[in-house]
Amino acid sequence: MSIEKKWFGTTADGTDVYSYTIGNKNGMRAVILTYGGALQALYVKDVHGKTRDVLAGFDDMEGFEQRSSYQGVLVGRYCNRIADGSFTVGGKTYDVTRNENGVTCLHGGGEFSRAVWEARPLAENAVELRYTSPDGAEGFPGEMETAVVYTLTDENELILDYKARCTADSYINLTNHAYFNLGGFDSGDILNTELLIRASHYLPTDERSIPTGEVRNVTGTAFDFRDAKPIGRDIGAQDDQLLLCRGYDHNYCLDKRGNEPAAEAYCPATGIRMQLFTDLPGMQLYTGNFLQGALGKKGLPMYRHAGFCLETQYYPDTPHRPEFPSCLYKAGEVYTSRTSFKFV
Ligand code: BGC
Repeated sequence: MSIEKKWFGTTADGTDVYSYTIGNKNGMRAVILTYGGALQALYVKDVHGKTRDVLAGFDDMEGFEQRSSYQGVLVGRYCNRIADGSFTVGGKTYDVTRNENGVTCLHGGGEFSRAVWEARPLAENAVELRYTSPDGAEGFPGEMETAVVYTLTDENELILDYKARCTADSYINLTNHAYFNLGGFDSGDILNTELLIRASHYLPTDERSIPTGEVRNVTGTAFDFRDAKPIGRDIGAQDDQLLLCRGYDHNYCLDKRGNEPAAEAYCPATGIRMQLFTDLPGMQLYTGNFLQGALGKKGLPMYRHAGFCLETQYYPDTPHRPEFPSCLYKAGEVYTSRTSFKFV
């Protein structure tokens, strides 16, 4: 199968955006955009032989630019949150964009997710996206080069290989923010989807969604997904963490178990099962708690819980938590990581 390149649209400032579709021999297809390096659509066959797009999101540029809650896009330089929008490296303090309530830096200020990336087909089933973030962008130090390769294998695995390097010592935390709905983007909410997460601990947060520093055991709580259960089973539990975030919006500290998937999701209605593999220590489970009906693909509204995100990452707010696994990279040091989504 060859790669199909198509014009997707134009940004508000007049830049053309292209889509690249990669496929495999089983009829699976992934659509990747130069805008935000987004995974725009992912077509998977269900048990009845019907092909479904399992990503909630947008099919036009206006959606991506005006109604986005980061649907499908790449996120950097620092995904998730940095408390008080500031951090110190080598004795120097950097003030970064405070784009959440005027206080917190969320998703690096959004720069990577809004950028138009350069795309290059690598093979029949792979596309590379590149973006260079200028020195000082969103307040971060140094010029940072990032490359992300999307590869779709004949084993139905969509692999994301990340590589980055900054000219200054800095924190690097990259992810993809796809909202999955294994029933199909047009199937309603994801509460019946069964989820398993191989994590015995998670990070409770304060009212700003910043980790408190406690690493809490999931045993006996609504946060325990070590045995698969429907996402909706405990989401309404009287748990102050769930009430605070209107659902799950928390980092799981992944238990490393060799090559076993860190998470697995299964939709009973379509029989679609997805496994997630990653070499990163954390994963934010976000159940679309704040979606409020923004119009998405085919003009359908995305309401609360229209999708779930499994954002693989270093733990949030690591610059203020020396006890968390470090994502401080020296100038010139190469960051690499791999996350994949496998349909089995
Ligand atoms: C955050 C949520 C946020 C969402 C969209 C997630 O990664 O944890 O709190 O609403 O991204 O920005």
